[in-house]
Amino acid sequence: VRDVRSAPDAELLRRHFNSITAENVMKATTIGVSEGVYNYGPADELVAFARANGMQVRGHALVWHQTAPAWFFAGDPAAADYRATVQRRLERYVTDVVTHFRGQVYAWDVVNEPASDGSTTWREDSPWYRALGPDYVDIAFRAARAADPDTKLFINDYNTEFAGKRGRLMSIVDAALSRGVPIDGVGHQLHLQLTTPTAAQVEQALADTAARGLMSHVTELDISIYDDPGSCSASRTGCATGYPSYAEIPASVLQTQATRYGELFRVFRRAQNLTSVSLWGLSDLNSWLETFPVRRVQAPLLFDEQRRPKPAFTAVAQSIA
Ligand code: XIL
Repeated sequence: VRDVRSAPDAELLRRHFNSITAENVMKATTIGVSEGVYNYGPADELVAFARANGMQVRGHALVWHQTAPAWFFAGDPAAADYRATVQRRLERYVTDVVTHFRGQVYAWDVVNEPASDGSTTWREDSPWYRALGPDYVDIAFRAARAADPDTKLFINDYNTEFAGKRGRLMSIVDAALSRGVPIDGVGHQLHLQLTTPTAAQVEQALADTAARGLMSHVTELDISIYDDPGSCSASRTGCATGYPSYAEIPASVLQTQATRYGELFRVFRRAQNLTSVSLWGLSDLNSWLETFPVRRVQAPLLFDEQRRPKPAFTAVAQSIA
């Protein structure tokens, strides 16, 4: 919502994009003040901007372990009616929020990041999983579908381009589909490192999704200017050292990034059932990667710190021309 409040950012949005996503203001930590009490103000501002400029809105994200306010889980977990109480709160939240944005949001990330990074299928430390077990996915999707029959309902996760993580996510998806849970598509976040994964790995993730008859959305694309070991995101150790300043990022790094953006958009162009691609941010002035997993200079997007098109922008434009 910061971007629509800034005149030059709003201009950049209008010029290059036809879909926008709220980075934070549609999450339960913003909207879900307490049971039955909602803060829709910032999200409504975004939706109004989109509508005024002929843009569409992707909803992100109804149910996520990182944005799960404590009021959903209040009570004694040992009580006989605890589970039913949490289920009722979840159903009410999803119903009310999807109803509020009905007709204005073309797709919702209903459940974000349900799959584990480890050996279990599910992310078992999620408060949703702890309270409701795997049923939380069914409950959320069914409530969303009942509230808006026309919006597309997505399950969204990161690292879907890696076979292990994708296998865990798809086993959740396949089981839910077999129970008749209304999942329309898989969201592939695509937070990529400078040189991995390959475009071919991304292509495989999109193909596996299409093979299930599901839609794909690329939901959070960015390409870091670093290559980190797995320990960097897992425990913030071993992360690549940041460049001293934005101006000191080597031109060769920005060129590598551009080449990768170009390859990816060629894959996107030919992929089946891929109907939306979103970048996770607008220009290098603001990216969540500046502080995640560690604080350092970053430049993961298509426009630079002065909102000028980067080599990455040119590469994308050429790929989709
Ligand atoms: C991030 C936002 O960009 C940050 O501003 C916020 O502090 C934390 O969340 N996967 C997701 C997004 O699905 O919602 C996350 O967004 C980035 C990782």
